[in-house]
Amino acid sequence: MRRRTFLGGLSASALATGTASLSFGQVAAKRLTMPPLLDATSSGQVRLEAQKGRTAFVGSSRADTWGFNQPFLGPTLRMSTGRATQVDVLNSLDEEISVHWHGLLVPGTVDGGPHQTVAPATTWSPELELTQPAATAWYHSHIHGATARQVQMGLAGVLQIDDGQDDARGLPSQYGVDDLTLVLQDRRFSRRGEIDLSLTMPDRMMGFLGDTILVNGQVGTMAVVPKGLVRLRLLNGSNARIYTLALSDGRPMHLVATDSGYLDKPTRLSKLRLSPGERFEVLVDFSDARDVTLTSEHNPNTGMMGGMMGGRRQQSGRFSVLPFTVDPTLPTRITRQPDDLGGSRPNGDAANAIWRRLSLDMPMGMGMMLGRSDRRFSINGDAFAMGRINFRVTQGTIERWTVNADMMMHPFHVHGVKFQVLSENGRAPQRQNTGWKDTVLVNGSVDLLIRFDQPAPANAPFMYHCHILEHEDGGMMGQFIVG
Ligand code: C2O
Ligand code: CU
Ligand code: CU
Repeated sequence: MRRRTFLGGLSASALATGTASLSFGQVAAKRLTMPPLLDATSSGQVRLEAQKGRTAFVGSSRADTWGFNQPFLGPTLRMSTGRATQVDVLNSLDEEISVHWHGLLVPGTVDGGPHQTVAPATTWSPELELTQPAATAWYHSHIHGATARQVQMGLAGVLQIDDGQDDARGLPSQYGVDDLTLVLQDRRFSRRGEIDLSLTMPDRMMGFLGDTILVNGQVGTMAVVPKGLVRLRLLNGSNARIYTLALSDGRPMHLVATDSGYLDKPTRLSKLRLSPGERFEVLVDFSDARDVTLTSEHNPNTGMMGGMMGGRRQQSGRFSVLPFTVDPTLPTRITRQPDDLGGSRPNGDAANAIWRRLSLDMPMGMGMMLGRSDRRFSINGDAFAMGRINFRVTQGTIERWTVNADMMMHPFHVHGVKFQVLSENGRAPQRQNTGWKDTVLVNGSVDLLIRFDQPAPANAPFMYHCHILEHEDGGMMGQFIVG
């Protein structure tokens, strides 16, 4: 294997501390593997067991990790839309968990939010009846106050909502061959090789940033792809890191799907910003058989908070996320961009919609900066409380939500819905946000148009929150009922 050098621009100063050396972009010797595929499209059954394991991330030392059906992370679940899937989640860990289906349009009673806890040695058995369009969703634990830690330990995986039409659409669909699932995460490791769950002071304020990039739970790998078009299903499963992705030789990515499903036709992008919780599917053309690297800019959360925190987030340049090597002996299946993906363009009418304004609030004051304040993260001044329903929504109605974030960027997510981004800072949404979404990076102000079709009763409300998990756990979350 050819030796790969790291892309220029990355100084020896680390992402997290400004001192440690980086694990990004070392010689990539190992081949990236996909999460195992658990295809439930014919059986209609999924069995997950949350379990402990040991995982070697770097070198030979092993870390204590958690996963579903394996030591770290979970299988890629494939479920059919138009039918019900019976799920069993057995919790073999020593603490309570939940499993939230992020992106599934299902009632609050089976959504897996913080009210649907699964106690140790018990099984939770929701039935997921999917009627939504094909999309790439994901699942992760969602215990209030423990989500960040449980996800860092490994309780997350990808979920494909499948309608069996990808071949007809002309999309690459061979799992792990020309249809790659890429879960992007970052971690820090202790000297003994354990996942380092400690938070620096900047982590407490702005969310955890690690110094090592994992793709599908693996460090320093490369993907081997066929010539022709390859589909990348990208999930940002990081606690807080925002990626700004591009290909090292400047070739475009063709966006085919956002969080909640396909676009009507592919959209050409040179850069793609992927914030925690978001999914994007892109096609990359490897017809020229040339190797290329998926790279990212450093975390963009700078601004006022970044300045106060001492500039660790103000690095420029790019780092390597995943090198690709083309193997011309692999069969080429798709060479032509599809021109009609069949997805619907959102075109809701905001005129008569109920209008809500939500402001994502950081703790304030110098005491807070020193970690001494009891002021919490909040939305409209309210920190999340399990026992408080923040508002109610009438089922079947459309609402316009204006979400504001000053201080720094926050990925805003709503359970049980898909939404349309009407505008960002008063302008038309950027191109990557023109499809159906359930999570959007708020940088200033966004206007969303949301239709509430799924019911959520008072004992199983839907959440809305910042998907920086340290913010979510810290109180930047609210809940609403739909009825
Ligand atoms: Cu992906 Cu409420 O979460
Ligand atoms: Cu969700
Ligand atoms: Cu946030």
